[in-house]
Amino acid sequence: MKQMNQKNEAQRREQPEPWEGDRPVPWLVLGVIAGLFIWSIGYIWFTHQEVPAAYGDRRTMADFEVKGESSSEGSIDGSKIYATHCVACHQANGEGVSGVFPPLADSEWVVGKPEVLVQIILHGISGELTVNGTTYSGEMPPFGDKLKDSEVAALATYLRTSMGNNESEVTTEEAAEQRSSVERDTPWGGDEDLRPMLE
Ligand code: HEC
Repeated sequence: MKQMNQKNEAQRREQPEPWEGDRPVPWLVLGVIAGLFIWSIGYIWFTHQEVPAAYGDRRTMADFEVKGESSSEGSIDGSKIYATHCVACHQANGEGVSGVFPPLADSEWVVGKPEVLVQIILHGISGELTVNGTTYSGEMPPFGDKLKDSEVAALATYLRTSMGNNESEVTTEEAAEQRSSVERDTPWGGDEDLRPMLE
């Protein structure tokens, strides 16, 4: 019995394949692993940010603005003016809210005479107004005080060339002309006032 155990011990000392010998992990491999380990700790340490990643990279719209052009007329973005002043009622796609706010997409008032569109933006509307056969009787606020001529022009141009509309642009001069040609401090009275102007 004892002899058998001794034999087993001798066997246990052997490698499965005698020619394999004793092969420890080379120092080079250990060194590379240790190096990567140290590098990764350093990487995490030096790229650590105080602000949680969920806050994004903290760039704001101002960082993307094209510098030096903001004051010149050609760069006024009608879609931004629309998003600021009109979108709450007429909605982002210009389809309005059924029965309450009329659509601007494919509206006869938008694609008709540009003068009328500018007048609506400058003075607003109060009273019954028919748009695409549906009658609305809401209040469209005036924007003459809030928007400069160049902004009115950019906005009117945006409406006439987007949302499926494809009409002529409106220039700052045209907007200025409309502003100076009409003196009124009350909104237009709906169809009654505006319909004749459209014809
Ligand atoms: C407070 C809600 C409100 C805001 C803001 C508003 N509108 Fe209107 N708008 C209306 C209503 C209501 C009418 C219909 C008026 C009526 O029934 O007499 C209308 C009518 C119009 C019309 C004529 C009808 C049509 O659908 O084409 C145009 C054009 C128009 N708005 C453009 C604009 C533009 C451009 C702006 C942004 C500068 C704007 N509106 C902001 C409520 C609004």
